[in-house]
Amino acid sequence: MLKTGLSLLAGGLMACSVLTGSALAASDGAAVYSTNCSVCHQAGGVGMPGQFPALKGRIDKIAATPEGKAYLADVVINGLHGPIQAGGASYVGFMPSFKGLPDDDLAAVLSYLTTLGGTAQTITADDIKAARSKPKKGAEMMAERNALNAAHPIP
Ligand code: HEC
Repeated sequence: MLKTGLSLLAGGLMACSVLTGSALAASDGAAVYSTNCSVCHQAGGVGMPGQFPALKGRIDKIAATPEGKAYLADVVINGLHGPIQAGGASYVGFMPSFKGLPDDDLAAVLSYLTTLGGTAQTITADDIKAARSKPKKGAEMMAERNALNAAHPIP
């Protein structure tokens, strides 16, 4: 009886974690965002024109191609130092590197950002791992962004 109860409980827990797997990833991303990113990019990723680009409604579009996903992974690993154009405004800001955070957190936060006012996309821990294995300097990041923008215009 006890044994049956325990195995039922275990089965129930497993079913729960399967069911909430994707929801958990999304809420992790939101938590990573509010701890690490919202101080600059603001709550909900709305940004601050001229200082911190909006991420809402832009990250999903950037993430729509494999090159775009690679670029986003590169930004969180290497940081970014403009000048850039984003959402019709100019930025000469400084985005720090977040390479100190685990692959899963960085994948979750980027995936979460694609759900803000756009079509959800998935950035995987492997995407982050790939970026981590090839660190880029500031000029290489700008070259990557410019090439991406030429191939798939960044909003
Ligand atoms: C200290 C402020 C600051 C923090 C914290 C910060 N960012 Fe940024 N971020 C910036 C700035 C400034 C830019 C634009 C850089 C420039 O002007 O070249 C930027 C650019 C970006 C871009 C590139 C946008 C584009 O159009 O190319 C992404 C993606 C991004 N940030 C994501 C994040 C994520 C995810 C986090 C948290 C893990 C984060 N940022 C934390 C300041 C910050």
